[in-house]
Amino acid sequence: MKIDAISIFPEFFDVLGLSLLGKAQDQKIIGFEAHDLRKWTSDRHRTVDDSPYGGGAGMVMKPEPWGDAFDEIIPKDQRPTLIFTTPAGIPFTQKLAAELAAKSHLVFACGRYEGIDQRVVEHASGQAEVLEVSIGDYVLNGGEVAAIAMIEAICRLIPGVIGNAESLSEESHNSGLLEYPSYTKPASWRGLEVPEILLSGHHAEIEKWRKDQSLSRTKVNRPDLLAE
Ligand code: ADE
Repeated sequence: MKIDAISIFPEFFDVLGLSLLGKAQDQKIIGFEAHDLRKWTSDRHRTVDDSPYGGGAGMVMKPEPWGDAFDEIIPKDQRPTLIFTTPAGIPFTQKLAAELAAKSHLVFACGRYEGIDQRVVEHASGQAEVLEVSIGDYVLNGGEVAAIAMIEAICRLIPGVIGNAESLSEESHNSGLLEYPSYTKPASWRGLEVPEILLSGHHAEIEKWRKDQSLSRTKVNRPDLLAE
């Protein structure tokens, strides 16, 4: 999979060189490139923002650098998926991560300030499959951290990125429930014992216990998931 990210702080994406995603890049499973939006400015100050039409606080990202960036990054004969990171977007979920993991080219457009001139989103839909996506109901200073979170969640679903693919099927949000709690050695630690059942070797009983734990954890931490 090819992934491009456009930002005024491309250095944010250096973390993607670490750990499993770094290895996946070395193995050419993922080809990642971060681009500095200011490359597509032409004035002396490399300006990327301006005051909002209609008034109000903050600045808005100008359309021209984004349009020129897309013209260069998006191949003329292809329609990649272009993701605008914004708290005003659709929620990023495990389901969306799985859908995006099947694509061959993703482009992340990371806004800052009060966002990007909306005409950029409108215009880009002629060049790509466009999504505006939020990672949660809170506001970050910019879309870089949101893009990194999405890239990690997406890329770990690509075959070959994670050594033990089995671990993917058991985890939170796969079945619509949260994952059961996990324990390792020692069996007794600071007066706290690992649940007896896990030491029993009764696989069917263990599976039932884990299902119960998943359900009760979801009831307490995420009752909204059960309502769905
Ligand atoms: N940019 C700022 N806040 C964001 C959020 N919650 N999700 C995606 N992009 C953002």
